[in-house]
Amino acid sequence: TESLKVGVAGLGTVGASVVRIVKNKAKQLESRCGRPIEVVAVSARSRSKDRGVDLSSMEWFDDPVALAQAPGIDVFVELVGGDSGSAEDSVRAALNAGKHVVTANKALLAKHAVSLSRLAEEKGVSLNYEAAVAGGIPIVKTMRESLAGNSVSRVYGIMNGTCNYILTRMEREGLSFAECLADAQRLGYAEADPTFDIEGHDTAHKLSLLTSLAFGCEVDSDAIYVEGITSITTDDIRAADELGYRIKLLGVAQRTDTGVEQRVHPTMVPKHSAIARIDGVLNAVAVDADAVGEVVLVGPGAGGDATASSVISDIADIAREDGMPVFGQAATSLEPYTKARMRLHEGGYYIRLA
Ligand code: NDP
Ligand code: HSE
Repeated sequence: TESLKVGVAGLGTVGASVVRIVKNKAKQLESRCGRPIEVVAVSARSRSKDRGVDLSSMEWFDDPVALAQAPGIDVFVELVGGDSGSAEDSVRAALNAGKHVVTANKALLAKHAVSLSRLAEEKGVSLNYEAAVAGGIPIVKTMRESLAGNSVSRVYGIMNGTCNYILTRMEREGLSFAECLADAQRLGYAEADPTFDIEGHDTAHKLSLLTSLAFGCEVDSDAIYVEGITSITTDDIRAADELGYRIKLLGVAQRTDTGVEQRVHPTMVPKHSAIARIDGVLNAVAVDADAVGEVVLVGPGAGGDATASSVISDIADIAREDGMPVFGQAATSLEPYTKARMRLHEGGYYIRLA
């Protein structure tokens, strides 16, 4: 059988893990997908950097856009990052060239989901993004496929590994915000610009994708109320503890009588609740759905190998069969996002989640 030929742009925390795991698990992937999967070409900024993976059999491209259009590849994997520039240009080029695309880039999708999903569907190719929401947790497939027979009323959870790691270590070890953030960066959890994490925008990007999957509306991350964790102090964490709560950065999207409400803010959650016990880089996403009830998925929200696990699952889906609509229904049938009237208590993080 002919192999599925993959080009990977971006060989940082996630890209290097993807290349290594696809190589090491070649036999297993072939038996699970019915055909071999091969990374045949790669792109990054520095050709000479040691990434701990053997790239000698792969064609090198300085420019991700050239890789995206290369005749020898079937799937273009975008792991460069950023909501414009090389990431956007290369994804558009790949889709226009009729290549399947896999990306972990929630910033790009939050901004351009409507046009990119229409382009993918017009061209009849997949645009898969399991890694873009909650890293290693298979929440996109769960929403897009497993819950297809449900109406969702609410989706919420901890969707940023960096913030949860910071809050956990501040609470457990009394460390400063700055020390914890520096460690999250060293471990490869944080975005290239970590203000996206700590100001709540990364959670908002992910939430906007879940909202579209849950409620069949267009992605609109600008409509989200966003408050990050930069003003949380160890004193706040201690005060919450004395009252029987932990502080977690949550993203919440729920259907209301007036539309869909989306918000991201630090939240006091009761210590005995399941979500309060999600520590460190773990994320948790809960879905309230009518047929199944509540489904909660927990797992690593960031990190090279954990995120690569999701990227590879998307590549494997393409190897098995041709794709499905990007948001589980035709992009042309997505409703405009109707923003709900929202009431927030003063000081968002004193909101208690029912
Ligand atoms: P890194 O910063 O570690 O890696 C980015 C890679 O892109 C580097 O290899 C870099 O090259 C390459 N690159 C940057 N600009 C260009 C360019 N203009 N042309 C070619 N190559 C370029 O990022 P991550 O691996 O952490 O993240 C990648 C994507 O995955 C992002 O969208 C991120 O949001 C997402 N993501 C990350 C997770 C994580 O845990 N890290 C989890 C989930 C999603 P060079 O190495 O030569 O500098
Ligand atoms: N910076 C992100 C996080 C990476 O910490 O959750 C995973 O999307």
